[in-house]
Amino acid sequence: MWDPLRAHHESVKDRSILSLFDDPSRAEQFSLRLGDLLFDYSKTNLDAEGLRLLIGLLDAVKVAEKRDAMFAGAKINETEDRAVLHTALRNLDGGPVLVDGEDVMPGVLDTLNRMETFAEAIREGREKGQGGRYADVVNIGIGGSDLGPKMGAIALRPYADGPRTHFVSNVDPADVHDVLSACDPATTLVIVASKTFTTQETMANAATAKAWMSEKVQNPASQFAALSTAQDKTSAFGIDPARVFGFEDWVGGRYSMWGPIGLSLMLAIGPQAFRAFLRGGQDMDCHFQAAEWHENMPALLALVGLWHNQVCGYATRAVLPYDNRLMRLPAYLQQLEMESNGKRVSMDGQALTVHSGPVVWGEPGTNGQHAFYQLIHQGTRVIPCEFLVAARGHEEGLHHQHQLLIANCLAQSEALMRGRSLDEARGIMSKRGLTGEELERQSSHRVFPGNRPSTTLAYPLLDPYTLGQIVALYEHRVFVEGAVLGINSFDQWGVELGKELANTLAPMVEGTQATSGKDASTAGLVEFLRTNGA
Ligand code: F6P
Repeated sequence: MWDPLRAHHESVKDRSILSLFDDPSRAEQFSLRLGDLLFDYSKTNLDAEGLRLLIGLLDAVKVAEKRDAMFAGAKINETEDRAVLHTALRNLDGGPVLVDGEDVMPGVLDTLNRMETFAEAIREGREKGQGGRYADVVNIGIGGSDLGPKMGAIALRPYADGPRTHFVSNVDPADVHDVLSACDPATTLVIVASKTFTTQETMANAATAKAWMSEKVQNPASQFAALSTAQDKTSAFGIDPARVFGFEDWVGGRYSMWGPIGLSLMLAIGPQAFRAFLRGGQDMDCHFQAAEWHENMPALLALVGLWHNQVCGYATRAVLPYDNRLMRLPAYLQQLEMESNGKRVSMDGQALTVHSGPVVWGEPGTNGQHAFYQLIHQGTRVIPCEFLVAARGHEEGLHHQHQLLIANCLAQSEALMRGRSLDEARGIMSKRGLTGEELERQSSHRVFPGNRPSTTLAYPLLDPYTLGQIVALYEHRVFVEGAVLGINSFDQWGVELGKELANTLAPMVEGTQATSGKDASTAGLVEFLRTNGA
C-alpha cells in the first residue's frame, strides 16, 4: 500500500517546496483552520496527489472504523485486552460510553466532582495540613503520571492561583531531595500518582516523602493523596480512601492527564480552568470524529508525519514551541508518540514492513536556535520541524518581545524552506571583498540547502482551552499514525525488560549478590561503581 506513495515521492523529491507557492492558493489549500487554531502544512513537499494517496491509506486500513471503535469502548488494546477511553474523561456533557455493556460516565463524572470538591477545599484552606493551609503540593509519579500534569502546570502558570506545585519523578535521590528541601512538611500535600501503585521509582520516592513528612507531622499519611487504579495498594500505604482518586484500566498512563492524574494541575489552576482544559480536549474529539479527512486536523498532522517518516524516510521530528511555557511539550510528546508508536510488530504479531514512529525531540524556540538549529539548517540529514506559536503572550506590557518571538519563529520556517544558494552566498561574500579561491571556500560554508519541510500550529493565546485542544490533537495524531502502521499504540511492552533487569541488578549493586551470570561489561561496571562507593 506504500508503493504508490513511494513512487510519487520519487517523482517530486527534487522539486523545491518554494516553487509550490507559484500557486497563489498554496498556503490556503495546505492549511486548516479549526476555531482559533491554524495548522499550516504548506511548507512541506506534499501536493494534492500526495495528500490523495495518503488519505487513501486511511481508507485502506479503515481508520474511521478504528476511531469509532475506540470512542465506542471496544477493546482495541488487544495485547492487554483493554478499551481505550481517555476520551471519556473529557466527555463533559456527551452521551453514555459503554464498556462491557456498562456506562462508565457516571463513575467518571463522580470522580471529577470528588476531585473538584477536594481541590476547592485545599485551595480555599478548608482542608489543611498540620501546620495550616497547604502552601505546596508535591506530585510523585513518573512517565504518564508525571509528564502530563507537569507539562500542563508549566504551560498554564499564568492561571495558577493555588498552592505551588512540584513534581518528583526520577528514582535519583537528587530529585526528591531537591524538591522536598524547598518545602515545609507541615504545609505540604503529597500526591502519589501511579496507575499501578507498584512502579519502583514512585514507590521509592513515596516512601522517602513519607519518612520526611513523619519528621514533623504526627500522622504523615493524612497529608497524602493517591491517584491510582489499585485502591488495595493505596490503602496498604495508609492513604485514606476519601483521598484516593481512582480510574479504570481503560485510561493509558500517557493519556491520563485528563482524569485523576491531573489533580496537581487542577489544584494549581482551579477546577474551572481545568474544565476549560477538558472542554478543549472534548471539542477536538468532536472534530476528530466528525470532520472529513481532508479537513480533519489530527488526521492531517498524522498524514504529514507519515509522509515525512515512512515515505520520505526522515527518521526524526523536531517539536519546536515558540512558547516558552510549552517547554515540557517535547518531553510529553516523546512519551506520547514514542511509547505509543515505537513498536516493531503489527497487531497480529508480524514484523512491520515500514519503520515505526519517529524519534521525537525538541526544545523551545528561540533557545534551540542558539543550540541545535545549525544542524537543522546545514546538517546532512533532513529534520522535519513542527513549530507552535501563539499570537499573544500573557505579558501584556512586553508585547514587543512577543512580536520578536513570532518573527523568529516565522523566520526559521522561511529559512528552512528558502535556503541560500551558492550564488547568493557568493554575492554576499564578494561584497565583503573576497575573490578567487577564498571567495569560493568561504561562500560554500554560507550555503543553506533549504527545501527543508516544516509545519506551524498557530493559536491566539496559550490558555487552558487551547492546551486541551493541542494535547488532544496530538493524541489523535498518534492514534491515526498507529492505525495506519497497524500497530497497537496502547501497550508498552518495550519498557518491561529493563525493569526486570534492574530488579536483578539491585542486589548486585548493593553487594548482597554476586554478579555471576552477568556479561563482563555489566559485571565490570558494577565492580567499578561498588569500589567507588555505590
Ligand atoms: O514506563 C512505563 C509506564 O508504564 C508508563 O506507561 C507509565 O506512564 C509509567 O510507567 C508510570 O506507571 P504508573 O502510573 O503505573 O506508576
